[in-house]
Amino acid sequence: MRVHKKRLDILTDVAAFNKQKKTIGFVPTMGALHKGHLALIERALEENQKVIVSIFVNPTQFNTSEDLVNYPRTLDEDIKLLSVLSEEIIVFAPTPKEVYGDEMLSIKYDFKGLEHEMEGKFRPGHFDGVGTVLKHFFNIITPNKAYFGEKDFQQLQIVKKLVEIEKMSVQIIGCPIYREESGLALSSRNKRLNQRQLDISPLIYSTLKQVKKEFGTKSVSYLNKWVSDQFKNNSELQLEYFEIAKVSDLKSIKRKQKDTKYRAFIAVFAGEIRLIDNIALN
Ligand code: PAJ
Repeated sequence: MRVHKKRLDILTDVAAFNKQKKTIGFVPTMGALHKGHLALIERALEENQKVIVSIFVNPTQFNTSEDLVNYPRTLDEDIKLLSVLSEEIIVFAPTPKEVYGDEMLSIKYDFKGLEHEMEGKFRPGHFDGVGTVLKHFFNIITPNKAYFGEKDFQQLQIVKKLVEIEKMSVQIIGCPIYREESGLALSSRNKRLNQRQLDISPLIYSTLKQVKKEFGTKSVSYLNKWVSDQFKNNSELQLEYFEIAKVSDLKSIKRKQKDTKYRAFIAVFAGEIRLIDNIALN
């Protein structure tokens, strides 16, 4: 398995793969790899001849410097994990300068309103940062397919829009959410949870599952209130938002309509650590 830190080195590999007509699957990550990431990488290995995994904590998508500083960085362990997986993996772990050059700037994107919902409201500029770094990566790596988790469902929808806006030929593949047995969605940020927080955090998914169960019979306003009650007076978990939204435009709804796909989305703070999750409702 090769690990590249320089743009020039990954470009050389990519040029060789293109010349040999090898298909390239791309899995962008910020490292601190867990089984959710590995599931994406395994899917990419099944569907492509070469798989490039980027490990890059992208500064432009963090809206607080504390979150950026505290984001877990475990490059040596990540490389070890990937090296036993397959010979066909190439890791790209650049410095910010290799990706952005001297000016670390975000492009201001118009994602047709998708960027103003949910995460966009609470993390200003976040999706401009995600769009910008992925544009750089897609240009360098020229993947046939790129893999994203439904764990970050809004991100997945925005990446599809990005590819449309930038007229890129990469196919975007969404992959299911990988969970602990407890139901907690795997996340690099889980590494920062203490035991008490770990014990209570399965409440996030059990709440979503109950919403799914009741979605057919209960009103949206009832469910909104019910979820907010679940987190009331909880000393470990603070609800930031809960929304039932249309899959198509991610706009939250007050009432259900026929023949429309919905998902429930949630963001919760466990102390300083922000956890997100979502579930398909129909
Ligand atoms: P990161 O949080 O490292 O996630 C990398 C990819 O893994 C994303 O597509 C994310 O949705 C997916 N993922 C994370 N946890 C998952 C889980 N439990 N089940 C399934 N998939 C999961 O998302 C990012 O990094 C960044 O924003 C990035 C796209 C790399 C751009 O910087």
